[in-house]
Amino acid sequence: PTVTYVAYDGSETIVNGFAGDSVMETAVRNGVPGIVAECGGSLSCATCHVFVCADSAGLFPPRADLEDDMLDGTAVDREESSRLSCQLKLTDDVAVHVQTPETQV
Ligand code: FES
Repeated sequence: PTVTYVAYDGSETIVNGFAGDSVMETAVRNGVPGIVAECGGSLSCATCHVFVCADSAGLFPPRADLEDDMLDGTAVDREESSRLSCQLKLTDDVAVHVQTPETQV
């Protein structure tokens, strides 16, 4: 799988990930800016907020209730496409596109 991270300034970082890893883990492992992930993926920080691009919206299951609640506490206000990237698991051969917000804290 690949993940394209589009930063707030429009710059793109494309990385190869592994099935089973999250979009957050893939960013952290590759030093992609724009995702902080203070809690390490335990759904308690909301600093892994991303906007999932329209072409990738169908690649992930819907939000669980706790993720939905946590999205009310993001630094940049949530939008319809908002997800917490620690909850977005890559599967084989997907090409994911996400945008990172202006700030996470
Ligand atoms: Fe903390 Fe996703 S890494 S909620």
